[in-house]
Amino acid sequence: MKRPERLWQPYLPKNVYDPYPMYDRLRDEGGLYKDITGSWIATRYDTVRFLLTDEHFKTQIPNHKFHTKQASYSTRVMDAWILLREGQVHKRLRGVATNVIDWQGIEAIVQEVVDQNLAPLKSKSAIDAVKDIALLTPTRIITRILGLPIQDAPRCKSWAGVLLWAVNPYITPQKLALVEQNAREFATYLDGILDQCEKERPDSAIARLLNTPDDDGNYMTREEVISFVIFLYTSGEETVVNFIGNAIYALLKAPDKMAALAADPSLINIATEELLRLDSSLQYSIRFASVDIEVEGEKIRKGDLVIPVIGAANRDPEVFEDPHQINFKRKKYNHLTFGVGRHYCFGARLARIESRAVLKGFAENLSHFRLDALVKRNPNIMFRGFKALPLKAV
Ligand code: HEM
Repeated sequence: MKRPERLWQPYLPKNVYDPYPMYDRLRDEGGLYKDITGSWIATRYDTVRFLLTDEHFKTQIPNHKFHTKQASYSTRVMDAWILLREGQVHKRLRGVATNVIDWQGIEAIVQEVVDQNLAPLKSKSAIDAVKDIALLTPTRIITRILGLPIQDAPRCKSWAGVLLWAVNPYITPQKLALVEQNAREFATYLDGILDQCEKERPDSAIARLLNTPDDDGNYMTREEVISFVIFLYTSGEETVVNFIGNAIYALLKAPDKMAALAADPSLINIATEELLRLDSSLQYSIRFASVDIEVEGEKIRKGDLVIPVIGAANRDPEVFEDPHQINFKRKKYNHLTFGVGRHYCFGARLARIESRAVLKGFAENLSHFRLDALVKRNPNIMFRGFKALPLKAV
């Protein structure tokens, strides 16, 4: 008897390198595919959109399945993460965050950081677009927005990078112990800074997160502020670094599009949206069914894990004509890269500003670089990006 073919294999090297043929195949099979592990994989645009918005599908992990008692502290930090909260608590966290951080005036800070990063690269013969461009941008910007000491940015980045491992359900006990240690160190550091900012700089964003109510007069607790700041670092760093790498790679593979952007910088907004659609740095999210429910004719059980694959929805031919091609003339840019609904990416505006500044700067000043050597993808397709993107000047 033939073994049934497994269509969802996100860790297979060929799918890590290029998951899009796998997505096409899954989408052709129908709206929802039941994986061997019992989870549901959604690849059609309408299904992904439905799962991200429908109230019956929650971000909260039932029974903290992914973590053991060893990780009690980091679990507590992560339990308070805004993305993993629902209902009134989510509304309150989002309300306070929106009243404190509105990204006003952020363009000038971003431009200054990006100009500083790109200027020394013009005269070099070889660079790594990840290390020399992408990695230098987001952490410094978040650190300045929050009002933390800029010299602490590398430490925050390193703590946040380790914490991200915790979302991997297959994490080893050794790595889990490191996550735990990093969560404690990061939280202890932020607790101290918060103390200091409350006394000396009450108008800094981190202090205002504690002192500002949402529109109903409710506040964040001290622990929630610390968790929120940790989440900004974890969610706002890796995604932007990876997207910048993905977008530079896509432009270098399509020299006519790079030339078009270099010749007409006013294309930058639509070019960024098209590149966000084409190769998102967050390929999928997760939801848990809170009730027994039927979707696309399939019976989903309460507690089932569903995986809305944003990267697949963004290439659904029912919505995007010729979806595998870069096209700066699309009529609509309704991609799902930043999600949709109540958990819509809080940092989408910042991510767009950062990406536009870097891509415009690259096209104008660094488009004489070409891809060098073989590029290496991160092994994790959920956070799709490059380990290194070596480029040489021609
Ligand atoms: C290209 C870069 C980025 C991508 C692709 C991205 C993608 C996403 C997506 C898809 C979601 C929704 C997930 C879901 O519904 O399950 C989300 C949520 C979120 N993102 Fe981003 N993001 C990016 C950059 C950022 C930045 C720069 C920040 C902040 C500094 C940020 C902060 C957040 C927060 C706080 C949430 C949770 C919102 C909530 O639960 O209400 N993101 N992001």
